[in-house]
Amino acid sequence: MTLDTLASLSPEQALNACQETSDTDNLAKFWEESLSEDPTELFCILEPSQWREAREWSGLNQDLDEAITRTATRIKQSPELSRLFWHAYWRTYLAPEPAPLSKWPTFTQILGDDGGIFYLLICLASIPLIRAWHAKMGIPEDITRHTTAQVHWRVHVHQGIHGRPGVEEGQLGWIRHYTRERYFRIGRLEYWLAPYKKWAERVYRNRETGEVLTFAGEGTRFDAKGRIFADEQNYQGGWISTYKRTQDYVEGHVIHPNGYGTPKQVKCTLKDWECLLEEGVMTLQLHIPFGGGMTPDACRESIQQAKTFFEAHFPNEPAVAITCGSWIFSPQLQECLPETSNLVAFQRELFLIPNPANGSNGLFFVFLKRGLPDFKTWPRETSVQRAILEYLEKGHIWGDGRMFFLLADAPRFGQQIYRSSWTSTEPNAETTNG
Ligand SMILES: CC(C)(COP(=O)(O)OP(=O)(O)OC[C@H]1O[C@@H](n2cnc3c(N)ncnc32)[C@H](O)[C@@H]1OP(=O)(O)O)[C@@H](O)C(=O)NCCC(=O)NCCS
Repeated sequence: MTLDTLASLSPEQALNACQETSDTDNLAKFWEESLSEDPTELFCILEPSQWREAREWSGLNQDLDEAITRTATRIKQSPELSRLFWHAYWRTYLAPEPAPLSKWPTFTQILGDDGGIFYLLICLASIPLIRAWHAKMGIPEDITRHTTAQVHWRVHVHQGIHGRPGVEEGQLGWIRHYTRERYFRIGRLEYWLAPYKKWAERVYRNRETGEVLTFAGEGTRFDAKGRIFADEQNYQGGWISTYKRTQDYVEGHVIHPNGYGTPKQVKCTLKDWECLLEEGVMTLQLHIPFGGGMTPDACRESIQQAKTFFEAHFPNEPAVAITCGSWIFSPQLQECLPETSNLVAFQRELFLIPNPANGSNGLFFVFLKRGLPDFKTWPRETSVQRAILEYLEKGHIWGDGRMFFLLADAPRFGQQIYRSSWTSTEPNAETTNG
C-alpha cells in the first residue's frame, strides 16, 4: 500500500469501509490539511516495539497486547483504516488548534470488540510525544513516567462505560494538552502552568496580616443560601453581587471559604490589601487523576513538591495559586460525605468558590454515566456513590465547585488557613452592608 493510495481516499470512502452510518461532516474536517504531514513517523506507533514501550510507560498491563496486536495489524493492512489513523493522529496532536474527534466511527462494525483499541493506539501515540516534549524542557524522567500514566485511566473509563478495553475518542482532546503544555503529574495530582483568565472572582490579601478575601464578580446572582444556578428557576431569594475597584479601594460582596456566597459587602483600601488573583497572573491549574487515595498527606506532599518543581523549572513565570473547577470542590460534599472523608479534608484546606449548578456537573467522574442522576439505575457500589445519590434523593440540586490555594501558603497546608482566618478577616476590612 503506497502513501499515494492512502492520500487518494475520500472521507466517504474511508467511512464506507468501516461500514458505519455516522455522518462524514466532522470526520471530513481538515482532511486535506492532514495530508500535508508525511505519516511515516506517526505510523511507527503501530509497530510492536513502539506500542509495547508506550504501553509500559502508560501503566497498562500486558493483558491488552493481543487486542493491540490484532488492531494495529488490521490498521496497517487496510488503506481506509490507515488513512483514518493518520487523520485522527494529525487532528489530535498536530492540528494547530484543537480539532476534537467527536462523532467519529466507533469501529465496532469492522473491528468488533476492538473498536476502542483504535483510539487507544492514538492515545498511546501521545507517549513518545510527551517524552520528547518533557526532554526538551529538561523534566526529570520520574515526572514524565508519572505523567504518562494517565493513559491507564482513560482505559479504565472506557472499560467502565462499555465493559471492554479501549479509549473514548472524546478523551483524546485532553490528552493533546500533555503533549504541548507545561502539564505534569507531581505525586497524587496534576498541574498545568497557565494564566488565570476565566474567573470573575478577584482575590486580595492583607499586606500585613496575610488574611485573604475573595470578591464575587460583578452581577453574579446568588440564592438565599449563597449558591449559583445554571437555571434561573432554581433561585429562591438571594442577591446580585457588586464589585467595584477604584484607585484607592475595592468594594463588593465576598465569598466564604466554604464555597458559598455571602450577602456581606466589604470595603478594603488598596494601601492595605493587594490583589493576587486576577486576569493574566500565572496559576497552576489542578487536575485530579482517577485512583482514590487522596489523603491529606498525599495532597500536602504533592502541593509542596509542585511549588518547588515549578519554581525550579519555570523561574521566570512564577505561579501565584493553584486553581481548579471540579465536582471534587462541590461545597455539597461537605453535606453528604463524612467528616473523615479525604475529599472533605482536602476542601477544608482550600478556598472554595461557587459554580453554577446544573444538577449533574462532574457526576460522570463518580458514576461513569452522563446526564441527570437516575436514582433507579445509577450504581451504588462505593460509599461516595451511595452518599451522593442519597443526598440528591432528598431533593437537592447538584452542582460542582471551584477552588484556589495560594502557593505562598503551601508550607501551612494542613492548618485550614482560609477558614480559620475568616472570622478575624472581618475587623480588618470595613463591612459596609449585611
Ligand atoms: C477524586 C478521588 C481521587 C478521591 O478519592 P478518595 O476520596 O481519596 O477516595 P478513597 O480512596 O478514600 O475512597 C473512598 C471511597 O470512594 C470510592 N471512590 C473513589 N473514587 C471513586 C470514583 N471515581 N467513583 C466512585 N467511587 C469512588 C472508593 O471506592 C471508596 O469507596 P468505599 O468506601 O465503598 O470503599 C476519586 O474520587 C477519583 O479517582 N476520582 C476520579 C477522578 C476525578 O474525578 N477527577 C476530577 C475530574 S473533574
